Amino acid sequence: MRKRTIYSAKIRETEVTDKAVFRQRRSFIKQAAALGLTGSIAGGVSQAQAGTPLQGPIIKSPYSIDEEQTLKETATTYNNFYELGLNKGDPAKNQNWLKTEPWTVQVDGECSKPGTFNLEDILKPHAIEERIYRHRCVEAWSMVVPWNGFALGDLLKRFEPNGNAKYVAFTTLYDPDRLEGQRSRVLEWPYVEGLRIDEAMHPLAMIATGMYGEEIPAQNGAPMRLIVPWKYGFKGIKSIVKITFTEEQPPTSWNLSAPHEYGFFSNVNPQVNHPRWSQARERKLTGEAAGGLSALFTAKVDTLMFNGYADEVGSLYSDMDLAKYF
Ligand code: MTE
Repeated sequence: MRKRTIYSAKIRETEVTDKAVFRQRRSFIKQAAALGLTGSIAGGVSQAQAGTPLQGPIIKSPYSIDEEQTLKETATTYNNFYELGLNKGDPAKNQNWLKTEPWTVQVDGECSKPGTFNLEDILKPHAIEERIYRHRCVEAWSMVVPWNGFALGDLLKRFEPNGNAKYVAFTTLYDPDRLEGQRSRVLEWPYVEGLRIDEAMHPLAMIATGMYGEEIPAQNGAPMRLIVPWKYGFKGIKSIVKITFTEEQPPTSWNLSAPHEYGFFSNVNPQVNHPRWSQARERKLTGEAAGGLSALFTAKVDTLMFNGYADEVGSLYSDMDLAKYF
């Protein structure tokens, strides 16, 4: 996304972990698990590779798609989370920079029940579902990820938004002492995002607190992040500490940084190209690679309107010129 990393079919070797390394790591984790060691190998196995299983039963969601899932090892080591570093492998390496305990979420703006809530109180009422979604980055790569979480709308309704709540804004933790990426000027900090209220209330929009049946690791946005599967991945703000109901359209980080490249809506649309590359096709990061580093990516496949969720969400935009309101 940053100007100097223009998307290219050539993938930097350091950005993708070699299949052999995956294999080695997997067998190491299996052995460690068999020995009951996974929680205690200091520095050996990261949080992501030995995640904590989610508590309680996980409900299967009717919104899940039936497609080959991206390997957990790929989805947790190929990340965009600039607070934890700019290269794809940095967030997993620097996951300790994100301190998730204690965690509070401030809710304010146009609603009857604002307040500052402990994470536990935010999450407690919500049963955890598994939702297998397509995940399409604006950089033209994609994954299929089994997220664990619940409908965003179910959370928002608890704060009783009023008639002036036309939008909802989200803010990521600001902690430049620890989150070293926030000392760089690549974006204005903290990272902010937003949705129109009808988008936020759509049942496909979700808060993820886990993935692959385990707690969500830091690099993917612990302890809670947004997932909006019909939009480019950057709308999925990570590590949320604030939710604000607003009457005016809120500022969003990538739009502030490059307004002609990243619109507020940012719905996946193969017909509207990024000014610097085509959005017609994408490279999927699937499971087992046939061999080598860049083989982790499939050949290009066609990108689908609204990332394949047009039947569900198309009506939200029926009166909009999608080329103008990108
Ligand atoms: N949220 C914050 N706070 N900081 C970020 O840099 N990157 C975004 C989004 N959320 C980002 C963020 C981008 S560009 C993408 S594609 C997705 O997170 C990547 O999510 P993933 O790493 O779980 O695949």
